[in-house]
Amino acid sequence: MMFKVTVVSVVLIAVGLACLRRHMAGVRYNNTTTRLDGKTVLITGANTGIGKETAIDLAKRGARVILACRDLDKAKTAADDIKNRTGNENIIIKRLDLASLKSIKIFAGDINANEKKLDILINNAGIMRCPYWKTENGFEMQFGVNHLGHFLLTNLLLDLIKKSAPSRIITVSSLLHEKGTINFDDIYSEKSYHPETSYSQSKLANVLFSRELAKRLEGTGVTTYSLHPGLINTELKRHWEKESMVLKILLSIGKYLVKTPEEGAQTTIYCAVEETLTSESGKYYSDCAEKTPSKEALDDDVSNKLWTLSEQMVGLNNGNT
Ligand SMILES: NC(=O)c1ccc[n+]([C@@H]2O[C@H](COP(=O)([O-])OP(=O)(O)OC[C@H]3O[C@@H](n4cnc5c(N)ncnc54)[C@H](OP(=O)(O)O)[C@@H]3O)[C@@H](O)[C@H]2O)c1
Repeated sequence: MMFKVTVVSVVLIAVGLACLRRHMAGVRYNNTTTRLDGKTVLITGANTGIGKETAIDLAKRGARVILACRDLDKAKTAADDIKNRTGNENIIIKRLDLASLKSIKIFAGDINANEKKLDILINNAGIMRCPYWKTENGFEMQFGVNHLGHFLLTNLLLDLIKKSAPSRIITVSSLLHEKGTINFDDIYSEKSYHPETSYSQSKLANVLFSRELAKRLEGTGVTTYSLHPGLINTELKRHWEKESMVLKILLSIGKYLVKTPEEGAQTTIYCAVEETLTSESGKYYSDCAEKTPSKEALDDDVSNKLWTLSEQMVGLNNGNT
């Protein structure tokens, strides 16, 4: 009797875990036929995680793919792997540190001088729940890298992207944007700092930026998309693991249930490739479908105010850029 109960319990747990795993894997973008020959794609943070998996997929479709990474050794290893796996030799590596306005300006200058076109920009790089660190220019690290770095980068590349229209700008956000609010009174997080709150703020800023950008680009043929990629087993949790033993244990079990990086890249690929999205702009996606973001993410006053503040913080339009 005891044996039977044990067997039934084990089978039920296994079936439950298999169902949970299937659910967590999310939706796969089943279009593998659309080609990107002749298109140039730029992906930030493409040496690992979902950025690298996105690069592999788009390289398979024939795109010229620029991997914008802060560590050129890691970028070279990733590029060699992508070339081997896809047979596409048109994989370029360039140094970009989104925690440095100087690095962003040098990078954008190089792209503008040497690339004839830029069809798809994917603002993918991110940092999550780090200690209270500051960027080279004194911004709180998560807001600085995840939002301000991509804000400046996109704006500096905008003429080239417009020249390449129809073109797309994709910004990888997170479901955690729903927990965020833009703390205009303490945007440098000097009065208080909470790693989770700051990450959520930066991911809310990603959705607001994408929506505001869509409005400003109306009629140009450039469309924008933001997205939640799912819960994925990547290196993004590198700073969490230092936090607590309980979290460490949960993460080591949970990594077998959540999305693989390849599964996590599906919505980014969908936004980059899906032809029916050509007429859409400023919207938010998850699991290869449009979703409604949080109330604050839809607030036009907040997105406009954040744009103006971001311009001031990165020194855009003041003659320094
Ligand atoms: N994983 C998830 O469950 C999840 C969920 C929701 C949203 N997201 C979002 O998905 C995106 C990709 O994350 P991931 O999960 O693939 O994480 P990941 O494996 O940690 O990859 C992040 C990438 O960003 C790069 N990066 C970090 N700081 C940078 C900087 N200052 N300058 C340039 N590049 C920098 C990293 O470079 P290094 O390798 O040199 O550090 C790495 O290439 C992020 O925007 C993240 O917020 C992820």
